[in-house]
Amino acid sequence: MAGRIPQSFIDELLNRTDIVEVIESRVPLKKAGREYKACCPFHGEKTPSFTVSQVKQFYHCFGCGEHGTAITFLMDYEHMEFVEAIEELARRAGLEVPREAGVEPHAPSTLPHYALLERVSEYYQAQVREHPQASRAVAYLKNRGLSGDVATRFHIGFAPPGWENLAAALGADNKEQQLLLELGLTISRDDGNGAYDRFRDRIQFPIHDRRGRTIGFGGRVLDDSTPKYLNSPESPVFHKGKELYGLFEARKAVRHLERILVVEGYMDVVALAQFDINYTVATLGTATTHEHLEQLFRAVPEVVFCFDGDRAGREAAWRALVNTLPVLRDGREARFLFLPDGEDPDSLVRKIGREAFEKSIETATHLSDFFFERLASQLDISSIDGRARLVTLAKPLLSSLPDSMFRQLMVERLAELAHTSTARIDDRLDTAQDGRSPEPSPMVTAKPRAAQRSGHKSPVRQAIELLLYQPSLAAEITLPAHISQCSQPGVPLLIEIIELIKKQPELNTAALLEHWRENEEGRYLTRLACWAPPVDDLELAADLQGNINEIERQHIENRIDYLDSEQKLRALSSAEKQEYGALLLQSHAARQR
Ligand code: UTP
Ligand code: MN
Repeated sequence: MAGRIPQSFIDELLNRTDIVEVIESRVPLKKAGREYKACCPFHGEKTPSFTVSQVKQFYHCFGCGEHGTAITFLMDYEHMEFVEAIEELARRAGLEVPREAGVEPHAPSTLPHYALLERVSEYYQAQVREHPQASRAVAYLKNRGLSGDVATRFHIGFAPPGWENLAAALGADNKEQQLLLELGLTISRDDGNGAYDRFRDRIQFPIHDRRGRTIGFGGRVLDDSTPKYLNSPESPVFHKGKELYGLFEARKAVRHLERILVVEGYMDVVALAQFDINYTVATLGTATTHEHLEQLFRAVPEVVFCFDGDRAGREAAWRALVNTLPVLRDGREARFLFLPDGEDPDSLVRKIGREAFEKSIETATHLSDFFFERLASQLDISSIDGRARLVTLAKPLLSSLPDSMFRQLMVERLAELAHTSTARIDDRLDTAQDGRSPEPSPMVTAKPRAAQRSGHKSPVRQAIELLLYQPSLAAEITLPAHISQCSQPGVPLLIEIIELIKKQPELNTAALLEHWRENEEGRYLTRLACWAPPVDDLELAADLQGNINEIERQHIENRIDYLDSEQKLRALSSAEKQEYGALLLQSHAARQR
């Protein structure tokens, strides 16, 4: 793998790409005014609410909220990785993808790891057929009810008994022996004399990344000895918190995955696949992480978590729920399937069969129900105290939900249960504006921002929306001298955007957004890019200037208010007094404009 793709290339690529063509070749579009429309490919609908803007090079579905650039579209619709999407667009545009010189931390050194892992996986698979003791492995797999077919599909192998099989079988030279160690496939002997195999006399489950490359193994004993499972340790190519066992196999088996079932064990994934339930993944002995969830919801709109029905299972499910809330945008759904006592998916599907198992998935508990049931079960909500506590417990959790219809409905339900109004609860949600976390500062907190929360947008937000709608507006505005001192959340980002456009006036909305892909701000900006003026508006530049002036005015007023109230409590420092004087002058000047 080569180095990073330079941002300037992505800028150029997005200026040369026509998102309408990219989407059109997959989803038929109809022209409607200045935009294009279709039934949304990301959720089921009968009347089209999926719109593509050629000017902005941006799509947005008013139904489910999906939105993004041509790159995002390929990632979401074709399940491509970022780099794959870039390569696809470059191919269409007849461009070569350049790579930045210099070393990317992992890339060059990971190549030999992948190749070696592939050889190891092939070796383990061959042992199921060839090793003198293979019959024990085969008997074990048969006994667990696995067909040869499904074993082949999951590349299941056998690590034979013995301490130094790998290096010998691979004819490993020094460099490869070093790689085996780095991958944790062998372990250094305490006395420093060579290394021994980690996996011995075990059934081997190779773990693949999204592209199908082998990145590690899970190995199960053939009997009751312990530890039951051994897993590859973290390595340059294997990160437990990021990978999901079975995701590659599921995506390969089902062309249009609609739902993914998350289970605990390797065996569960394989057993369900044998029953033709091919949309299952397992976390690798860890809790479900934020990264897992992002990956899952990138692949499907619906995730069903499968847990034991016992106490520990419910605790684990609750942890999964808490981690899921921040990624639950409209159009995404999470549910919980609690299994009968003593069963895991493997044992249950063998007992009740595919149809009944899938039926139980259909009736799995909705996240919203689990959420309120669980909170209410810990409290007595027939009392005022209990209901107050319910709001207190629910509040921070609901605050972590993205701004969405779902969140609104959850707040309504909470209000109902607490016998209060949504307005009361809304008031108490410490929402980072638009789901972002603003840095609290005395000046901002001095004045309540209730107005912003209840639908009235802040001038910062409006300014950013205008710029994303029509980047060229940046050329026409004058930034107030003190804008960079304004402490409202989002101001530094706004300035950054304006400066970027002034430097590169040719950037369209999509190219602009791609500058922030990698970070939190990117998600916020992409959401704001969905905005368009309600009617054709010729006053956009004036509007932008007005908002920017307003930002400064608000800052000055907030700061004056703050210093005023401080003054009543204590003597201001001389710096503060100076500032106070300057602010009064600025406030006066602002009113003259
Ligand atoms: P389970 O103990 O539920 O195993 O562990 P299982 O998948 O039902 O296994 P079988 O049916 O007995 O073969 C669930 C998962 O937890 C991790 C593994 O990823 C396993 O698939 N685990 C479990 C370990 O990493 N180490 C262990 O010793 C046990
Ligand atoms: Mn099991």
